[in-house]
Amino acid sequence: MLQCDALIRGANVLDGSGTAGKILDIALLNGRICAIGPDLKHSSSTVMDAEGLVLAPGFIDVHTHDDIAAIRNPAMLPKLSQGVTTVIVGNCGISAAPVKLGDDLPDPMNLLGAAGDFSYPTFESYVAAIRDAQPSTNVGALVGHTALRNNHMDRLDRAATDGEIKRMRAQLCEALQNGALGLSSGLAYLSANAATTEEVVALAQPLALAGAVYTTHMRSETEAILDAMHEAFEIGRLSKVPVIVSHLKCAGIANWGRSGEVLVALDVARREQQIGCDCYPYAAGSSTLDLRQVDERIKITITWSAPHPEIAGQTLERIATSWCLTQQEAARRLQPAGAIYHSISEDDMRRILAHPATMIGSDGLPNDPRPHPRLWGTFPRVLGRYSREEQLMSLPEAVHKMTGMPAQRFGLPCRGLIREGYCADLVLFDAEKIIDAATFSEPVRPAEGVAAVWVNGVLSYTAQGATGKRAGQYVARGKTSWIQ
Ligand code: ZN
Ligand code: CU
Repeated sequence: MLQCDALIRGANVLDGSGTAGKILDIALLNGRICAIGPDLKHSSSTVMDAEGLVLAPGFIDVHTHDDIAAIRNPAMLPKLSQGVTTVIVGNCGISAAPVKLGDDLPDPMNLLGAAGDFSYPTFESYVAAIRDAQPSTNVGALVGHTALRNNHMDRLDRAATDGEIKRMRAQLCEALQNGALGLSSGLAYLSANAATTEEVVALAQPLALAGAVYTTHMRSETEAILDAMHEAFEIGRLSKVPVIVSHLKCAGIANWGRSGEVLVALDVARREQQIGCDCYPYAAGSSTLDLRQVDERIKITITWSAPHPEIAGQTLERIATSWCLTQQEAARRLQPAGAIYHSISEDDMRRILAHPATMIGSDGLPNDPRPHPRLWGTFPRVLGRYSREEQLMSLPEAVHKMTGMPAQRFGLPCRGLIREGYCADLVLFDAEKIIDAATFSEPVRPAEGVAAVWVNGVLSYTAQGATGKRAGQYVARGKTSWIQ
């Protein structure tokens, strides 16, 4: 009889490709899936009866800011407890590596940690730190455009010179040689807003040679969103690189109802080039507190403030009232700070979430003392609330958006599907019960309905909590493939 390390029996297997489930047994050996079949004859000392449960590839969180959290807090409980087995770090133009800091930490790099937390001057040193820390989830990494700018420019409120672009490119190439998945930008932030399209194109060119992707927190998610999309697509076209639009949304009351035209623009461009996007399943965003986004008509909650740490969790309205200031003035006094903006319409978010080009990304902020609930809730919320309860998409489709699709687009070798020989990143869950528990008022709560999570064949989480075994790996870039 064939021996294996673990045998999962009788699960409804959703393989990550988007096709319907089948009742199958899965055998694991040496961190890989070694056999899949209706009635495996393998023997193992670890047999899990999975009847009535769904087995899927471990979820891939394509949009995270876990760069430093994965090293400082390697249990990665916010992610593991949702069934996430791989996180992609380095989004929105900010990454922990390669970074050499001067005197200050530019906004929004402060989302990742304090100045002293940035100790990875080369991408290679970051890879080594991930391997040493061995987080409970796998980690793939993008290089942030803002991080590169900050390494080589004396000030960020201008475009880079040719010499600076050359030095940024050299640093990006070092990262690509060490398996970086691509380049991210955060052009909406003041630390990158002065960068020209040409500056980004010049940096995107090495991505084409390496077969890597360009992800972007676009120059605008408000009035000028269509111009910002065209800029992102143009960068992809000119450099012949796939484009992933980060956390696609129509932000600000004036833009509510525009998701239809935004998705038409996406679809038109998708006929000519490789374009995808990610989305989190909430009608509120979160980042650093941006005075340009302060609008008295929307609810803004302060998640942290360096000069006023005691106000975390209060609304800006309440703070402004108690200080006898306008919200603008109060926001200025709170800087630097973080905020949750209830500035998205639920209808727009649903339409974007359900679109076939959309992957799931939490954009969770692990450093926040009172984080947006997406940090702990994103994946079970998509499965439980938006697929099961609201039937916005089928369960196999929802799983595909968080497994097979991201693995192909980011080029994560042997992950995202249940196939013989693939890495044994797996999540077992109750499709009738899975649901997020984190809320805006109680944001730090593990989701319900996740029965077991294996990372590289190691049982890392069960309904009783983390097993304490951490088996995450650094995931270097493989070959990307796009099925539009
Ligand atoms: Zn962003
Ligand atoms: Cu982000």
